[in-house]
Amino acid sequence: MSEIEVPVIRPRRLRTTPALRRMVAETSVEARQLILPVFVREGATEPVPISSMPGVVQHTRDSLKAAAAEAAELGLGGIMLFGVPTAKDAVGSGAIDPDGILNVAIADVVGEIGDAVTVMSDLCLDEFTDHGHCGVLDRHGRVDNDRTLEVYAEMARAHAEAGVHMVGPSGMMDGQVAVIRSALDAADHHDVSILAYSAKYASAFYGPFREAVDSSLQGDRRTYQQDPANALEGVREALLDVAEGADLVMVKPALPYLDVLRQVRDAVDVPVAAYNISGEYAMLEAAAAQGWIDREPAILETLTSIRRAGADVILTYWASEAARLLQR
Ligand code: PBG
Repeated sequence: MSEIEVPVIRPRRLRTTPALRRMVAETSVEARQLILPVFVREGATEPVPISSMPGVVQHTRDSLKAAAAEAAELGLGGIMLFGVPTAKDAVGSGAIDPDGILNVAIADVVGEIGDAVTVMSDLCLDEFTDHGHCGVLDRHGRVDNDRTLEVYAEMARAHAEAGVHMVGPSGMMDGQVAVIRSALDAADHHDVSILAYSAKYASAFYGPFREAVDSSLQGDRRTYQQDPANALEGVREALLDVAEGADLVMVKPALPYLDVLRQVRDAVDVPVAAYNISGEYAMLEAAAAQGWIDREPAILETLTSIRRAGADVILTYWASEAARLLQR
């Protein structure tokens, strides 16, 4: 009886050369899928470095325009604007003032780059309130969901008047997408789209961002942002936002929530975004600065992993640099 030769199955064969690996790669990262979050500080005359986010600054209005022009040149998908106002109050008045920093910055950026890159704005009150919460408070000091929605509606109109292409409601108030959609439509801004921060978790990894926006928050956001223990609830939030009219939904943070990202990607029929947040950025930068990690491949591996988990687009502070690395 002759022996039957069982061939050794060799998956390594597909890894033989760079060209072959490139041909069979299941996932890619492209500049058009990257969105650059940027901070603009009212009254700043020089860009202000953010110590916990080496390489990231609070922009002046002029340096912001330059960053936007660079984003356009690199072919990024979008730029997401955050405002850092000089004055804050209990109701976040600076957010709806047409002369407020975020509204003037939107107009600056749209004036600079037009439609070349999608101009997006953070639609939330936390940068503008003196208590640092994402909404207005009731007389017991709790975040008042429905009064906050009224302010979000006004904020959406202000951003749209300034020329924004897409608003990013990040406050995790119930019903925020529906209220913003109808406010925009009522003001004839049918083309302004909504990137809903749907599954946004109460995360310790937002730490450096709080420095970036000079946050005045005491305590935490656990009554509105999600519990890190819950994935099903993240899917539920995303489905609700789609039903309310979200054009894209988001999972945030990215790396600690890649499972949620995959579940949301499988559950909805709109593009899904992931936010590679400040703490994720800071950890990698800190390790690289120590020489403990090889920075550039680590950045590209991070972005590839977030895409593989299901993100169609990624908000990342490395957007411009990654676009440059990808050109090589
Ligand atoms: C709230 C907001 C936060 C971030 C984006 N929008 C912080 C928070 O909820 O405290 C975090 C982004 C990051 O950490 O990079 N407007």
